[in-house]
Amino acid sequence: MIYLDNAATSFPKPESVYLAMDRFARTTLANPGRAGHKMALASEHALNDARHRLNQFVNGKGPERFVFTLNCTDALNMAMKGTLDAGDHVVTTDLEHNSVSRPLMTMADSGFITLTQVKSDEGGTVDPNEIAKAIRPNTKLVAVTHASNVLGTIQPITEMGQICRERGVLFLVDVAQTIGVVPIDVQAMKIDLLAFPGHKCLFGPTGTGALYVAPGVQIRPWREGGTGGDSSTRTQPKDFPYFLEGGTPNVLGIVGMIAGLDFVEKETPAKLLMHEVGLCDRLYDQLKDGPFRFVGHRDPTRRVGTLSFFCESLPAPEIGGILDQAFDIAIRPGLHCAPYIHRAVGSFPDGLVRVSPGPFNTEADIDGLAGALQEVVSV
Ligand code: ALA
Repeated sequence: MIYLDNAATSFPKPESVYLAMDRFARTTLANPGRAGHKMALASEHALNDARHRLNQFVNGKGPERFVFTLNCTDALNMAMKGTLDAGDHVVTTDLEHNSVSRPLMTMADSGFITLTQVKSDEGGTVDPNEIAKAIRPNTKLVAVTHASNVLGTIQPITEMGQICRERGVLFLVDVAQTIGVVPIDVQAMKIDLLAFPGHKCLFGPTGTGALYVAPGVQIRPWREGGTGGDSSTRTQPKDFPYFLEGGTPNVLGIVGMIAGLDFVEKETPAKLLMHEVGLCDRLYDQLKDGPFRFVGHRDPTRRVGTLSFFCESLPAPEIGGILDQAFDIAIRPGLHCAPYIHRAVGSFPDGLVRVSPGPFNTEADIDGLAGALQEVVSV
């Protein structure tokens, strides 16, 4: 089997991730912070260590500012529903995943907020000046993706962050497709809220993610409940991360995510990115003269390893089905939970064929896919 759907979730994980999770599950997996016995303390220690590691990795302002979540969607919902009030205005973009756009559309449809969706340019980049122009006196939040999960285009986040900071607007960034392959510095990028999954380029299992909340951001809890430690207070304790972290965290998954982070730091994000973008470019070179139309600009310095295209004569879902059934190749066809960018590039409603290699894919995998695609479209 050739797996080329790493933008959805990375597979396989590094061997060290499987080993770390197996070891932890067999020796240490007690409920963190819920008792004083040795295993509970060791489990709590693993969580605290994870928060320290993440804080270092994205240059956060403190490990306690990292709140563990179920996934990136959960983190994004926590950020938006915890900060927005009636009458607020929000700026977002047409590149967003449904995890950003659906909560915002629901709030806008009910009249709770007003919303401006800034359009990306033809190559799939949002101009920071367009974000600046969209900001109004009552704008509370700018919510953008760091890289499109469809086009792979990296957005000028630092420039956008500067604009938000100058205007006193909260800046929420969805780094689902970039954390682990593109450097993130929340202080330099002036990011107030950073949402990410653990199961993509950090190589943890599904069911992991986190929200970074910068000090000073006013946010309400999204999920209240037990936090361990002091159980006596009537309502959620005010101290971070427990203020936003009711319920037993996925400590086993988080241990896997940190083993994945070890792998990322050893390999380096730059090397991982170069490998994945290089494989996409190899595929593009083999297919560019065929009946495929590629979307997104081609500048390799402003892309992650995601390549999307369509073929006029065969809908993307059919191509995906044939690749799976006849060639045992896994890609993701369709709308990728991001309908607005598909409308913008003209691939709605059938969508695109999306190919997203990971660190364990080889040139032979790409050549196999290119050959299969040429065969599929020649019949
Ligand atoms: N958001 C994931 C993707 O892009 C699932 O496929």
